[in-house]
Amino acid sequence: MSFVEYSELIQDEDVVIIFMGHDSMMPIKVQSGAQTQTRYGVIRHSSDLIGQRFGSKVTCSKGGWVYVLHPTPELWTINLPHRTQILYMTDIANITLMLELKPGSVVCESGTGSGSLSHSILRTIAPTGHLHTVEFHSQRAEKAMLEFKEHKVSHLVTVRNQDVCKDGFGITGVADAVFLDIPSPWEAISHAKKTLKYKGGRLCSFSPCIEQVQRTCEALLDHGFEEICTLEVLLRVHDVRTVTLALPDFGPEECYADSTQTASDLSQEDVNTSVICKTATPPREMAGHTGYLTFASKPRDQKCE
Ligand SMILES: C[S@@+](CC[C@H](N)C(=O)[O-])C[C@H]1O[C@@H](n2cnc3c(N)ncnc32)[C@H](O)[C@@H]1O
Repeated sequence: MSFVEYSELIQDEDVVIIFMGHDSMMPIKVQSGAQTQTRYGVIRHSSDLIGQRFGSKVTCSKGGWVYVLHPTPELWTINLPHRTQILYMTDIANITLMLELKPGSVVCESGTGSGSLSHSILRTIAPTGHLHTVEFHSQRAEKAMLEFKEHKVSHLVTVRNQDVCKDGFGITGVADAVFLDIPSPWEAISHAKKTLKYKGGRLCSFSPCIEQVQRTCEALLDHGFEEICTLEVLLRVHDVRTVTLALPDFGPEECYADSTQTASDLSQEDVNTSVICKTATPPREMAGHTGYLTFASKPRDQKCE
C-alpha cells in the first residue's frame, strides 16, 4: 500500500480506512495479531484484513459490517489526526491546479502542519517529483516524517525542521512552485523567490485574514512577482429533498398548443396530478470561510540567462 499507488490486497503494516458511513470513518494501521474495536464489534487484523482486497466488506464480531478502503489523500484529509488547522479538498484542488503541479514537479511548502496538503501534492508530483516541506515545530516535523514513511511516500519528500522566515527552504533555484500556510507569509517571500527556479515558477499563499493578504501582496510586488491574484473558494452544497409537486392537467397536447394560458392561470380544480420528485436547493447564505488563496508568478530571472 502506498498513498501514490493503488494495491489490490491488504498487507501487514498497511494503513486502511475503516468506512462505517460517510461521516464515520477511521484510519488504522494493520498489524498482525492486533484487533480494532468498532461500534459493530471487533475487527481481527490477521483474519479479517490481511490478504483481503481493498474495498471489501468485512463482518465484525457483533454481526455488523464495515468497508475497508484503500487510503487516498482525500480520505486522509478528512480522517487524519489533527495537530493544526488543515487545508480541505476545496482549497487543495485549486492550489494543485493553479500551481500547475504535475508528475515531476519540485515543490516547496511551509508549514507542514498536519500534512493534509502535503499528501495531495505528493500524489500529484509522483513518481519523479519532490516535495521540500518546512515546519518549525519539531514534534510536528517528526510526526509528519513518520507518517510519510508509513504511507510509503518518504522517498518523495524532505522534511526540514526550521523557521522558513529566517532560514528559508534549504534549497535554491530548484522549485517549480512554492506554497505558504504560515501566519506571516510576507516574511518568507524573499526565500520563496530564491528557492524558485531561475526560469520562474508559481507561488500560492493561504491566509485566513484579508490584512495578511494585503501584506503578502505588497511583499510579492516588492519582490517582482507578477500575475498576483487572490481568491476565496467556497463549496456550495445543495440540500437534496424529496417533494410532492401538484401538476395541472393540461389535457391533450393540441388543446394548449396555441393557448396563452400559463400554470398560474389555473384554479385548484385544474390540478389533478401529483408527482414525487427530488429537488436541490442551494444555501441562502454561504458559510464556511477558510481563507484566501493568493497566487503569483515569479518571472524568468534575466540576470541568470
Ligand atoms: C495551519 S498549519 C499548516 C497546515 C497544513 N497546510 C495542512 O494542510 O495540514 C501551519 C503550520 O505552520 C507552522 N509554521 C508557522 N510559522 C512557521 C515558520 N515561520 N516556519 C516554519 N513553520 C511555521 C506551524 O507550526 C504550523 O504547523
